[in-house]
Amino acid sequence: MNEIRRSIILTGYMGCGKTTVGRELSLRTGKVLADTDEMIVERENCPVPQIFAEKGEPYFRDLETKLLRDLDAGETDMVCSTGGGIVLRRENRELLKKIGFTVWLTASPETISERLASDRERPLLPAGADPERIRVMIKERTEAYKESADLIVRTDGKKPEEIADEILDKLQGQGYCFENSCDQRT
Ligand code: S3P
Repeated sequence: MNEIRRSIILTGYMGCGKTTVGRELSLRTGKVLADTDEMIVERENCPVPQIFAEKGEPYFRDLETKLLRDLDAGETDMVCSTGGGIVLRRENRELLKKIGFTVWLTASPETISERLASDRERPLLPAGADPERIRVMIKERTEAYKESADLIVRTDGKKPEEIADEILDKLQGQGYCFENSCDQRT
C-alpha cells in the first residue's frame, strides 16, 4: 500500500549543512521549517549540550525517539532538519521513513572540520576536531545514514541554493511532488 509522505527530512553528520539547506528548501516549497534539536530544546527547556552533560546521551536519544513518534502520529508537512545522530536507532530510521522523504547530506571530513572549526555547541565533537576523528565517526554511522536515505546529496563546494535545487530536481525526478497542495503518493 502506498503511503503519503509530504515532508522532506534532512539527515547527515554534524556540519553537513542540514540547517542552511533546510531553510532554503522551506523558502522554495513553502513548507514549515522544523529542526529536531530545536524541538527537543523547546520541550526540555534546556540546550542540547546541557541535556548531554546532565542526563547523558541515551536520555537525549530517547527524546529524539519520542519526538519522532509524535511527529509520525501528527499530520506532518514540513522541511525538517535532524540531529546528526538521529539515525543511530533502528526505530528512528523506520519512523523517518514513515514521516517523510529522507535526504542524506554528506560532506568530506575535511570540509566538516573546516565548517565546525570554532563551533562549541556540539557535545560529541569538540571545536577544532581533526578530520581523522570525524572520518571514524562518519564511518561508524554510514550504514545507518544509508539505510534511512531515499536520496544522497554531496554538499562539498556547493552553495545552499545549489544543494536545494539539486534536491528538488532529484525529488521531482523520483516522482515526489513538493507543492503544498499536492498529495503525491511515493
Ligand atoms: C549529534 C548532532 C547534533 C545534536 C547532538 C548530537 C550527533 O545535531 O543532535 O549534539 O550525534 O551527531 P547537529 O547534527 O545539528 O549538529
